[in-house]
Amino acid sequence: MSSGLIRRDNGHGKTHYFASSDESKICVVMVGLPARGKSLIAGKAMRYLAWVGIPARVFNVGTYRRQGTPQPSATFFDPHNEEGEKMRRAAADAAITDMIQWFDAGKGVVAILDATNSTKERRRWINERCQEANIETLYVESICDEEDLIMNNILEVKTTSPDYKGQDPEVAARDFRERIRNYEKVYETIDDGEKSYTYVKLINVGSTVIINQIKDYLSSRLVYYIQNLHIKPRSIWLSRHGESEYNLTGKIGGDSNISERGEAYAKALPGLLKKSGVPPNTKIVIWTSTLKRTIQTARHLAAETGFEKLEWKALDELDSGVCDGLTYEQIAEKYPEDFAARDEDKYNYRYRGGESYRDVVIRLEPIIMELERSENVIIVTHQAVLRCIYAYFLNTPQEQSPWMEVPLHTLIKLTPRAYGTEEQRFKADIPAVSTWRAKGTSAKHQEYSTETKA
Ligand SMILES: *[C@@H]1O[C@H](CO)[C@@H](O)[C@H](O)[C@H]1NC(C)=O
Ligand SMILES: *[C@@H]1O[C@H](CO)[C@@H](O)[C@H](O)[C@H]1NC(C)=O
Ligand SMILES: *[C@@H]1O[C@H](CO)[C@@H](O)[C@H](O)[C@H]1NC(C)=O
Repeated sequence: MSSGLIRRDNGHGKTHYFASSDESKICVVMVGLPARGKSLIAGKAMRYLAWVGIPARVFNVGTYRRQGTPQPSATFFDPHNEEGEKMRRAAADAAITDMIQWFDAGKGVVAILDATNSTKERRRWINERCQEANIETLYVESICDEEDLIMNNILEVKTTSPDYKGQDPEVAARDFRERIRNYEKVYETIDDGEKSYTYVKLINVGSTVIINQIKDYLSSRLVYYIQNLHIKPRSIWLSRHGESEYNLTGKIGGDSNISERGEAYAKALPGLLKKSGVPPNTKIVIWTSTLKRTIQTARHLAAETGFEKLEWKALDELDSGVCDGLTYEQIAEKYPEDFAARDEDKYNYRYRGGESYRDVVIRLEPIIMELERSENVIIVTHQAVLRCIYAYFLNTPQEQSPWMEVPLHTLIKLTPRAYGTEEQRFKADIPAVSTWRAKGTSAKHQEYSTETKA
């Protein structure tokens, strides 16, 4: 079986990735007790798939159950509670029915079924329903016996779950632990009797991984991604290079030095990082592209902190092909049609002899894998590349990400949380040219001044 991805070039510099109709559809079934990070893994996998252009959706059985029973107590989850059992089954049924309809309507390639009940019988039932509908199943079991991790998750759930909205946190935590005990009574881990299924078992998120029977490329890619995840607390900092000499004249591309003000930003970067809040004894790895302007921007930071430094070719700026070294005005003049086409669909537009945003996302995939495996990292890179990395963490839609404004001389701090990514921005008090161009406008080249954000 092959994956559903085919690359097609329509001859106008655009590449589309199709999931052809009779190719594999995959249902990822989350398996595990409550508070084992299932929703976190499901959410991240969905974000990753959307980012690489594979339509995916999470079907959360809890959401369906909540329509009938908004705030059930733990006794609802008692396996001997017949009424509860009936409603839970109906919710699982509704979720799967919707999922099959979603596939049939051609809306996606991967569905993620986020449910809690983990029995062999339930897995067999899901397997049958998917087989009937020609959908492959991939079971992802999250097993966790580290008390700290579980307690952390319980804390997240009781403060964020709609099941406990407006309730006393103490009471909520007690009830939630009781609910987990009810699931434990019937929980069955995936075992040797289920060797015919495709599955991944994650033990303590990332420390041990068992993989069985991966059949196609898309599943293996997804499994590889999931296998790289960890949930240790950390932050990722993003910065563009300091103002470059090209930026002063409005030229794009090239490999110019940073300007005097760019150099001032490079000197300010260690202080700006400190100001953003770095816990004592934190080790941070510095990543740059292979172009002079990012290496020069990180130079003082590396020297002052002694942090390890890595240069990545994959972090180099979007290749603007024949437009390299031109200003936006010159591009509009020399290649008016291209200029308009780029505005029309900036994400897919590929510069003649160069790259599109979509191309950049594809070359950044290994960077994202490495970022998921890593802990604290500061990335000094270029505008287009930074927009792509940012879109992955913040789930920015493809049509929007190429238009996002990322000012020069600004440090962005991203901190992953259980249900999304927290963002903070810190501006250095160093002016730079603004080269941001809004959709449909002619190239503007203007000065702007920054004020320091407290
Ligand atoms: C889980 O599913 C099994 C079989 O479908 C059922 O007997 C059991 O009561 C369910 N338990 C919970 C907690 O949903
Ligand atoms: C700033 O200059 C670099 C070249 O040094 C260029 O690649 C980049 O696109 C410029 N920034 C903008 C937003 O034009
Ligand atoms: C860039 O800087 C280096 C030294 O810092 C210098 O040798 C080189 O000539 C500069 N290049 C340009 C194009 O100004």
